[in-house]
Amino acid sequence: MTNDGSTLSDIEIARIAERIDRPVVLVGMMGVGKSSVGRRMATMLHVPFVDADDAIEEAAKMPISEIFEHYGEASFRDGERRVIARLMEGAKGVIATGGGAFCDPETRALILDKGIAVWLDADVDTLVDRVSRKDTRPLLRNGNPREILTRLRAEREPAYSQAPIHIISKTGPHQVTISNILQAIDSWL
Ligand code: S3P
Repeated sequence: MTNDGSTLSDIEIARIAERIDRPVVLVGMMGVGKSSVGRRMATMLHVPFVDADDAIEEAAKMPISEIFEHYGEASFRDGERRVIARLMEGAKGVIATGGGAFCDPETRALILDKGIAVWLDADVDTLVDRVSRKDTRPLLRNGNPREILTRLRAEREPAYSQAPIHIISKTGPHQVTISNILQAIDSWL
């Protein structure tokens, strides 16, 4: 785990970008910042960014909350599996996945095989704070968000911990988190 708080120079970023030959896939809990970190990281690496949740909504032509409401979570997971399989066909890029995606054994195996999985992690207080900014997440609608996030984080940890790279996202500039991710990828490759 690299969490030394330093940031990389443009030359270092370009050198690491050259070495990255597979999609970088951000996994981890709702609210950890996969989409905002991923979007920024893709810009820095000069590669495309895709938010898997957005791609699912586009394919289904409806918001995720409605997919859950009308068809249920199992059906959402089927669609998520198919969409991520398609996204993993791209050579280079950054993909932010929804919080449950890496917990599906088939999706996880595919990401581990074809991509560089990065578990972006944060403590429950940080997650609670960040999810409170958006109320569109169906899994947080029926109960206390802190309790749900605490339970899900514990249940999902065995899956997330299979990612070869584990980075703690602290409050502060995304730049630091991204530098930590890139340094960890550089060491891992
Ligand atoms: C989910 C997380 C959401 C979205 C869906 C289910 C989950 O994505 O895929 O609501 O199971 O944790 P984010 O992690 O981007 O919020």
